[in-house]
Amino acid sequence: METLPKNFLWGGAIAANQVEGSYNEDGRGLANMDVVPSGKNRFQYMFGNVKDLSFKEKEKYPVLKGIDFYHRYKEDIALFAEMGFKVLRLSISWSRIFPRGDEEHPNEKGLQFYDDIFKELKKYHIEPLVTLSHYDFPLYLVKEYGGFKNRNMIDFYKKYVTVLFKRYKGVVHYWLTFNEINCTLVLPYLSAGVIIDQNESREQQLYNATHHLLVASAWAVKIGHEIDPTNKIGNMFAGGTWYPYTCHPQDIFAAITKNRDAFFFCDVQARGYPSYKLRELERKGITIPFEDDDKEILKNNTVDFLSFSYYATHVVSGDERINEEIKNNPLATLKNPYLGEILYKRQDDPIGLRNTLNMYYDRYQKPLMVVENGLGAQDEVDENNKIHDTYRIDYLRNHILAMEEAVRIDGVELWGYTSWGCIDLVSASTGEMHKRYGFVYVNYQDDCSGNGERIRKDSFYWYKKVISSQGRDLK
Ligand code: BG6
Repeated sequence: METLPKNFLWGGAIAANQVEGSYNEDGRGLANMDVVPSGKNRFQYMFGNVKDLSFKEKEKYPVLKGIDFYHRYKEDIALFAEMGFKVLRLSISWSRIFPRGDEEHPNEKGLQFYDDIFKELKKYHIEPLVTLSHYDFPLYLVKEYGGFKNRNMIDFYKKYVTVLFKRYKGVVHYWLTFNEINCTLVLPYLSAGVIIDQNESREQQLYNATHHLLVASAWAVKIGHEIDPTNKIGNMFAGGTWYPYTCHPQDIFAAITKNRDAFFFCDVQARGYPSYKLRELERKGITIPFEDDDKEILKNNTVDFLSFSYYATHVVSGDERINEEIKNNPLATLKNPYLGEILYKRQDDPIGLRNTLNMYYDRYQKPLMVVENGLGAQDEVDENNKIHDTYRIDYLRNHILAMEEAVRIDGVELWGYTSWGCIDLVSASTGEMHKRYGFVYVNYQDDCSGNGERIRKDSFYWYKKVISSQGRDLK
């Protein structure tokens, strides 16, 4: 029996700010994440709590070098082609196209770089899936305008995406508006370029940014469809589902409430502002900064498909005492007694991917794409220059199986699967190299040393077999 459709888009995913490097080459301007050092202070920046955005002498910034994809993209794309990729999810660096963000004309050299990338992908019949902004905003717009807290950002974004939709018409067919848009409520600097003003309500500022992002996203759908009606434009959210701690009705409601953190964004992007959110904000005295034709734009420009990242699930209780840890740390979760050990703060849950696919398909009945999934681990290169990453193969095998069941047994319409960090890259959370996801090892280390050599891991050969067998051979 056929499992995944013949035209299923198998591939991998990367992001400009985590691979490209060359942060000041060919006219590129600085981006928000360029100035965030690796190490222990990193999350304070991402929470939007750090005002001083200058480089510090004592800090390290591995992201400035990335994996030197800017110069080595041909070699890397050839490796993706060797694995049989049908699609590569990549993002465009906004500050390569508009170095400050508010210029009249785009930077031609920046556009040429992506011309070259798309040409190279075409050579191997690899479809690009482009994230218009993956945790990536011109630093100038962050400093001068306050990022997406400021409504002007919608216009800057409209201008930026118009340039891209025009330039890559007929070349790029699949687009995502913002990466993990729902992370804005927790990590506003990362997801929206926002620094929180301590004298104003944090929540109000978060919802201002959220609304502006949602309106900007709808504008991208509108502009993209007007320029090329065949464009498929999707959203992208962090899709780790919340489970109730027990079957106590209060725990069930706590899980419903937590899941709304992601549903809310998808609801707006797929069908309109939901009543539970309007009520919640009204109760809290938070206003959504609606203007002019926002409602109209949102209503008439819903996404063609939904896409999400999936790494693991989370657990929440309705009992505040049990929830103590979660209350104090929005990124925390209770331990799930039915799952294995906690690695990198996550408990693997392949069945959770099937659950998530079903939840979202049931709710929206729109096609889905899994655009991030993978295992970040510290790989060892042995004396023969080999990397035996069986742990990664196990993780991916179980998740691909669960995904295939969601399609074959449950009938979920799934367009594709792009494993995260198909080549090692700089981690978003640590800003370092040691948390590796790739099928391809990159010889760069946390202290920025290394020659950048690319080495095929065992998982490289395994994924190649998975793709060529259409997901049937997962051994
Ligand atoms: C997602 C992001 O949150 O997870 C990626 O979209 C990120 O940019 C990925 O790299 C994995 O997270 P981390 O922190 O392990 O790099």
